[in-house]
Amino acid sequence: MDKYQNRTMDLRDVLRTIRMKAKYALFLGFVVVLVIIEKENKIISKVSDKLNLKQMPLNLFELNSTDSNAEYTDNSSLASLNKLDSDFLKFGNRLLNVTLQFGGNTQLFEENQKAPHRQILLMATTRTGSSFVGEFFNQHENIFYLFEPLWHIERTVSFDPTGANAVSSAIVYRDVLQQLFLCDLHILEHFISPTPENHLTRFMFRRGSSKVLCEDPVCTPIVKKAFEKYHCKNRRCGPLNIALAVEACLNKKHMAVKAVRIRQLEFLRTLVEDPRLDLKIIQLVRDPRAVLASRMVAFSGKYESWKKWALEGAAPIPEDEVQKLKGNCESIRTSAELGLRQPEWLRGRYMLIRYEDIARSPLEKAKEMYRFAGIPITPQVVEWINKNTQASQESNGIYSTQKNSSEQFEKWRFSIPFKLAQVVQDVCTPAMNLFGYKLASDLETLTNRSISLLEERVNFWVT
Ligand SMILES: *[C@@H]1O[C@H](CO)[C@@H](O)[C@H](O)[C@H]1NC(C)=O
Ligand SMILES: *[C@@H]1O[C@H](CO)[C@@H](O)[C@H](O)[C@H]1NC(C)=O
Ligand SMILES: *[C@@H]1O[C@H](CO)[C@@H](O)[C@H](O)[C@H]1NC(C)=O
Ligand SMILES: *[C@@H]1O[C@H](CO)[C@@H](O)[C@H](O)[C@H]1NC(C)=O
Ligand SMILES: *[C@@H]1O[C@H](CO)[C@@H](O)[C@H](O)[C@H]1NC(C)=O
Repeated sequence: MDKYQNRTMDLRDVLRTIRMKAKYALFLGFVVVLVIIEKENKIISKVSDKLNLKQMPLNLFELNSTDSNAEYTDNSSLASLNKLDSDFLKFGNRLLNVTLQFGGNTQLFEENQKAPHRQILLMATTRTGSSFVGEFFNQHENIFYLFEPLWHIERTVSFDPTGANAVSSAIVYRDVLQQLFLCDLHILEHFISPTPENHLTRFMFRRGSSKVLCEDPVCTPIVKKAFEKYHCKNRRCGPLNIALAVEACLNKKHMAVKAVRIRQLEFLRTLVEDPRLDLKIIQLVRDPRAVLASRMVAFSGKYESWKKWALEGAAPIPEDEVQKLKGNCESIRTSAELGLRQPEWLRGRYMLIRYEDIARSPLEKAKEMYRFAGIPITPQVVEWINKNTQASQESNGIYSTQKNSSEQFEKWRFSIPFKLAQVVQDVCTPAMNLFGYKLASDLETLTNRSISLLEERVNFWVT
């Protein structure tokens, strides 16, 4: 039992490094953790007693306990444990791993998997055009697309501000993402606030940005009018039924998730190596000067001191904010370097793409991304891209997605004060060099349209 004891100790350590707020703290409080560990021990000993993998429920995310399989209704089975607490799934995964090491074979799980055939993660940071690029996948008839589901986790879980911070958040994000890719959307219920009742919620972040969540059968008729912050765009629906969403997810051939909260590619290794998944990661990057210019518009209040310093010569920008910018650039660069190095585990699973290239040739780049993902692009996707990237005179400027994208992508050069462009260049040089964003030595270069700040990087991006 020593081996397993250690494993549960690991788990406890992980949980301890994570500080939960409010409800989640109650939910995963120390007592609960002990109970979980106790349960896990019990299950492990049961499994090891029997050592009969065939009797184990194969779909750990299956939540329907009325399944005809007799093992499912067994109180002590993993499935009923899941029913007790679907958040337990995270630990279920590790348990699965333990069982596999115990002599199981992964084929069992592959044969019986109901999860989507292929998963796409659009890994980006804010203001890199990821909502726009995410639409390329949202518009596909056979892709279940989720827009920023990790938002709920960031809102609910507060991470220790000391060193464990980055690691613990990355672990939670990764584990939740893993469940989502298996269509276990129930995992989100623990993080959505207020907590869904009977799997119903009106607070699914940006539901309207996910086509499937706004179509039949997930879009149920409205029973009574009620406030819905993230309502569907083209029609009104009843509250989101997460169980229906899970079903819709399982009925689609593929799945795509856009996420701006995954910072380190290396943390995704567990997902890449998960035999139940077939993950393709697309990292989207953009010129950090353009990102800053865009953030200064979108989150104007946060950048008051930056503007005052650049335009009025007021007090310098606080050092920690500059360091944060540097940290962002560095984590993007580190991930991209790892991806481009093509370690064995990432081979064929990583693609780097620049927003600027997409803006200049959206359709061509969309086709490249689909080719990389191994999914055929459909006329519906092509039509959406054509409609939303070549703005005609009449529709100009009405919708933010409808714009002449090859005209738009360099606008930042005329809006950012040169001093701020310089700050970015100073701290982000290594990232800019890697991605082919040329430094501007003076204001004239920055604002001269005939000088390109973009190095061509043909065929360097797909691995
Ligand atoms: C559970 O399974 C039963 C029988 O297969 C089915 O009739 C029922 O609709 C399922 N319920 C859910 C919530 O999936
Ligand atoms: C578990 O088993 C006990 C006794 O066999 C039974 O009373 C109880 O209802 C079962 N619980 C569930 C959730 O099936
Ligand atoms: C499963 O076990 C392998 C080998 O010990 C380990 O490398 C991997 O990270 C484990 N995966 C999970 C999900 O714990
Ligand atoms: C979009 O902008 C580019 C660059 O200015 C221009 O060449 C192209 O003709 C424009 N397309 C449309 C449809 O306006
Ligand atoms: C812009 O750059 C081009 C090419 O270097 C140069 O010929 C031109 O004079 C510049 N225009 C301005 C207004 O500086």
